[in-house]
Amino acid sequence: MSYSDFLNAIKAQDHEGIPVWFMRQAGRYMPEFSQIRNGRSIREMCKDTETVAHITELPVRKLGVDAAIIFHDILLPLEAMGLRVEYGKDGPSVRSNVMDLMARGKFFEYSKENDNYPLPESIHKFREGNPGVPLIGFSGGPITLASYIISEKRDGDLSLVRRMIHNEPQRFSEILRILTEMIIGFSKAQLRAGVSVIQIFDSWAGYLSGDMFSKIYSSYLREISAELSGLAPTIYFSTGTWHVQSVLEELGFDYLSVDWRRDILSYSNAIKESLGIQGNLDPALAASDLNVVKAEVMRIANGMKWKNNYIFNLGHGVPQFGSENILKEIVREVHSVTR
Ligand code: CP3
Repeated sequence: MSYSDFLNAIKAQDHEGIPVWFMRQAGRYMPEFSQIRNGRSIREMCKDTETVAHITELPVRKLGVDAAIIFHDILLPLEAMGLRVEYGKDGPSVRSNVMDLMARGKFFEYSKENDNYPLPESIHKFREGNPGVPLIGFSGGPITLASYIISEKRDGDLSLVRRMIHNEPQRFSEILRILTEMIIGFSKAQLRAGVSVIQIFDSWAGYLSGDMFSKIYSSYLREISAELSGLAPTIYFSTGTWHVQSVLEELGFDYLSVDWRRDILSYSNAIKESLGIQGNLDPALAASDLNVVKAEVMRIANGMKWKNNYIFNLGHGVPQFGSENILKEIVREVHSVTR
């Protein structure tokens, strides 16, 4: 592993090898995960700083990746805003009606005093045990978080969100404003505690129409990048957003994390060089024939190695069927490329 390659690449500075980490690198695909979990829910696990620090360092030790990402979830800070979050077999859900809460003045602005998760302490604990390991902090993106709040679970193609944008624009903008404030405060709290980078996970933003994204949504993202700019490098991850490509480039984030559907080589030639790129191996390859995996890793790594601000990753999170061995091989392969 090379922590300095990661830290240099994220700042677009010269470095030797291509850095690599994986979204959702600490998860259920790992045999140790269920041992450490020991029957607990993710909510319980995230209240235990020892557990969080331990799980966060696991992929660094086992896979040899160049950065860690703090173990938490994008929905957990919603609890500090008056919402009840639950993790069930069919994915997470928000067990509160936001309209009702708003009507009763019970949908609050986020404050870290109301946040019951000791995330800063977990970050300190990780830092103590792993000095020098780059640590990525994160938050959900406003529309991705809004989708869980408005539909009370994942809103497949954002149809409820889009309906609200059309029919109740004022209520929508109030929800987005409150979420944007949270994202900024929550990210800054992680930075104060010692993370080196912030990634915004906006997984479902691609379901907005081009007009909605550019005319209504992008201002919230610009506010986030402006508030974090100068404090730490920022990465914006989204999927299915090629229809808003030119808007993405002007959001003010240092890096764009690209999903697996896009041809990353032609993409990197088309955008301005100052913009960093992260991605975008097909997550389906996280458990596939090793020769097929290696060929695809090499195609991407060799095609992207000219770029000082490039970080290897998957095009989305590690799937549950991911194989630790294959991920290890991917890391080894990426690290074998000299720039
Ligand atoms: O990357 C990491 O290793 C750090 C931890 C992390 C989690 N969630 C832990 C988690 C990160 C970065 C996330 C981000 C997240 N959470 C996103 C954005 C990335 C993406 O995948 O699109 C989203 C949309 C969520 C919301 C969420 N949380 C979903 C959809 C799910 C269920 C599906 C799944 O993959 O598990 C969760 C639960 C969750 N978040 C678990 C973990 C380890 C599983 C909890 C459990 O097993 O009960």
